[in-house]
Amino acid sequence: MLRRTRRNRRSAAIRLMVEETQLLTSDLVLPLFLVSGTGTNEVIESLPVASRQSLDYILKEIESCIKVGLQQFVLFPSVPEKFKDKLGSYSYSEDNFYLEAARIIKEKYPDICLISDVALDPYSSDGHDGVVEKGIILNDMTLPILAKMSVAQAQAGFDIIAPSDMMDGRVAAIRTALDQASYTDVGIMAYTAKYASGFYGPFRDALDSAPKAGDKKTYQMNPANRREAMLEGELDIDEGADYIMVKPAIHYLDIISDLRNAYNVPIAAYHVSGECAQLLAAAKLGWLDYDTVMPEAVLSIKRAGADIILTYFAKELATMFAQGK
Ligand code: PBG
Repeated sequence: MLRRTRRNRRSAAIRLMVEETQLLTSDLVLPLFLVSGTGTNEVIESLPVASRQSLDYILKEIESCIKVGLQQFVLFPSVPEKFKDKLGSYSYSEDNFYLEAARIIKEKYPDICLISDVALDPYSSDGHDGVVEKGIILNDMTLPILAKMSVAQAQAGFDIIAPSDMMDGRVAAIRTALDQASYTDVGIMAYTAKYASGFYGPFRDALDSAPKAGDKKTYQMNPANRREAMLEGELDIDEGADYIMVKPAIHYLDIISDLRNAYNVPIAAYHVSGECAQLLAAAKLGWLDYDTVMPEAVLSIKRAGADIILTYFAKELATMFAQGK
């Protein structure tokens, strides 16, 4: 045998030397769920690695992440039902607790990267990402609301705006509005290939944001489609996206790889709630070894070509890396 591939696996030192992919804390973004008020820190039952937290706990959480070198976060609001309406107008209202929290977070930790999710669903009484009229999700009516929400978020201090709604033309609408308001430095991380997936279940439990009627199939992508993701990428980049995202991640590694090979903007991938919950559940049953499969799962996303990985495991990974594991 002239070629023996096992030679390069002989010792830990050699294996490390030929290692192709390394997961770093700086690749990771931790999603945080914000509730109004103080004193709330509730573990999410279907995603026990994450919690619904009021600002006081969120600040402590950020502090402890910074201690292990993790400084990228995406913040989601859990909006009380009484603030929801058909047009999601609370999303940009003056007394919005989410915007107020962002102001305080960025004042206290100016150096972190704070990302905001832009979509109507947490604020909408219909639970959809767009304005609903007679059961139809209206595209063009939704764009000015997303633009207004984005400007309010930029004003609050978010570094990056991440539209997750999948309305056509939202990136251009948001870019134009941000520029007109002089927020030319605020970036856009577009949820470019966001699929109509069942893996968002625990997230919708966390935020109580499931659609009240119907599903999201008229705007989120069909899980069967691969070429269409390339088209979405082309449009988002043309419209001014600074990052393009694939979501979910683990079940869509081919899409991550396609976009990585086709485009030069950084690729983000969202290791979504249901994908994380699967591992937690199997580990709880004793069917999988969590310490092995969790890093392996997240590594696969990087290997497929993602530069940025949003995962509920970000803090646990950062802690492991800080301990040299
Ligand atoms: C809101 C949004 C969702 C997620 C991120 N932003 C849910 C949805 O589209 O229904 C899901 C994230 C996760 O499951 O971890 N538009």
